[in-house]
Amino acid sequence: MRGITKRFPGVIANRAIDFEVKPGEIHALLGENGAGKTTLMNLLCGLYEPDAGEIWLKEQRVWLRSPRDAIAAGIGMVHQHFKLVEPFTVAENIVLGSNRTLLREAPKRLNLRLQRLADQYGLNIDPSAQIWQLSVGEQQRVEILKALYRQANILILDEPTAVLTPQEAQELMATLRMLASQGTAIVFISHKLNEVMAICDRVTVLRDGQAVGTIAIQDCTERSLAKMMVGREVSLFRNREDEAQTTNHKPQSASPPALAIKNLWVISDRKLPALRGLNLVIQPGEIVGLAGVDGNGQRELEEAIVGLRAIDRGEILLTGKLAHIPSDRYSMGILTEFSVAENLVLKDVQHPPFQWKGLLRINYILKHATDLVQQYLIRTPSVKTQVGKLSGGNAQKVVFARELNRDHQVLLAAQPTRGLDIGATEFVYAQLLARRDAGAAILLISTELDEILSLSDRIAVLYEGEIVGEVDRASADIHHLGLLMAGKRERARDEE
Ligand SMILES: Nc1ncnc2c1ncn2[C@@H]1O[C@H](COP(=O)(O)OP(=O)(O)OP(=O)(O)O)[C@@H](O)[C@H]1O
Ligand SMILES: [Mg+2]
Repeated sequence: MRGITKRFPGVIANRAIDFEVKPGEIHALLGENGAGKTTLMNLLCGLYEPDAGEIWLKEQRVWLRSPRDAIAAGIGMVHQHFKLVEPFTVAENIVLGSNRTLLREAPKRLNLRLQRLADQYGLNIDPSAQIWQLSVGEQQRVEILKALYRQANILILDEPTAVLTPQEAQELMATLRMLASQGTAIVFISHKLNEVMAICDRVTVLRDGQAVGTIAIQDCTERSLAKMMVGREVSLFRNREDEAQTTNHKPQSASPPALAIKNLWVISDRKLPALRGLNLVIQPGEIVGLAGVDGNGQRELEEAIVGLRAIDRGEILLTGKLAHIPSDRYSMGILTEFSVAENLVLKDVQHPPFQWKGLLRINYILKHATDLVQQYLIRTPSVKTQVGKLSGGNAQKVVFARELNRDHQVLLAAQPTRGLDIGATEFVYAQLLARRDAGAAILLISTELDEILSLSDRIAVLYEGEIVGEVDRASADIHHLGLLMAGKRERARDEE
């Protein structure tokens, strides 16, 4: 890509960017939220056309006017937010819109062929499953398989590990290495610098729409990359001793619990018990971290607490108002067609001060939005911009800002920093600790053990729908937690 420029109303997303990827290389594309990573790759996969600049494939200039052109040129992209059709099967999604007219192929034969292709790359998938039944990790494998089925020799992955469990991330890395060793060129977008260091060959850093440099991985460190992204020295927030614990925090244990979950049973979409007699109590002024590998009931618990999923048995007692940062921001958190300002008042628009005697007070809504955009460093051309037009990380900041700004005593924060850059993550951590110090009870659901250890006063481990262990932050050790998360309850106890 040479001299690529792309403008949107009010923003220059890419400014004269030069970017190249070689066959067989894994090339990281880094930058803060809103730096222009997704836009640059959307140009390469034919979703947008550049305002200026050229795209060359193997010494040949190409014009990619549609995703179809890009697919034909061997470019496949796994998007930040998947584009699968829920009621269809894996196999149907894979052949959908592809040039080969295989929809007529007998489903049995097609499934077999796909199974073989999947096995070849170590992708564990059932081609006959329907998309809605799959975990995010499985859905991502479908997206990768789809690209491979279309014989992509350039594969772009936009924050692929943000939604994966550590094990799934490991598996993905192995698959990517295998693909690269067979000559596939891979572009890997991520905010996780340790992954970039582990798997990539070269790195290109974008800042504010410009490419600030391309370097071989052996010539950089996490710190130097962070500095390149931000444009100044940064402290990598690694923190727990100094941050969470120095406050020497004591929850208000004398008061009644803010959230009490008693013997909770909940059924999953697949009609299996997702929570089996879960018990959990959170006091005001306390962060309880719920650790665990994704898929052990986190999503169902989140949905049950906010009333989106029926309770089969047991009860949830909530004292005070609830704020909720949902794990799946795009289906539960925002309306992409609505503006930033509208999304920021989404849950309170029927109340004063945003409404008075049945009339919306537009100026008040806009003023409120302007304040929050400044306070939470949301990068948007204007508060009237549609949220769907923001970068992934900035859309998440909108949800975070709205929820933290609502009056609440209990905060349910599910994967609160997923997709956020280093600076924004630090900011979110500070805000959560401040909310706790102000007396909020916080349930932090996170698959990132580092995050749990950084923030929690108490840690509970979720495994197959049950709490299999609870420890104080002060006495928590990673090895013990790891065993609990793997379901080794007995051995973990014996080892103590
Ligand atoms: N379809 C669009 N319409 C208008 N503006 C857009 C559109 N897509 C992206 N932008 C703007 O372009 C800029 C770059 O966004 P982009 O999504 O490329 O960032 P990113 O580096 O991928 O960030 P993140 O890490 O948050 O995903 C942002 O200011 C964003 O608001
Ligand atoms: Mg992005």
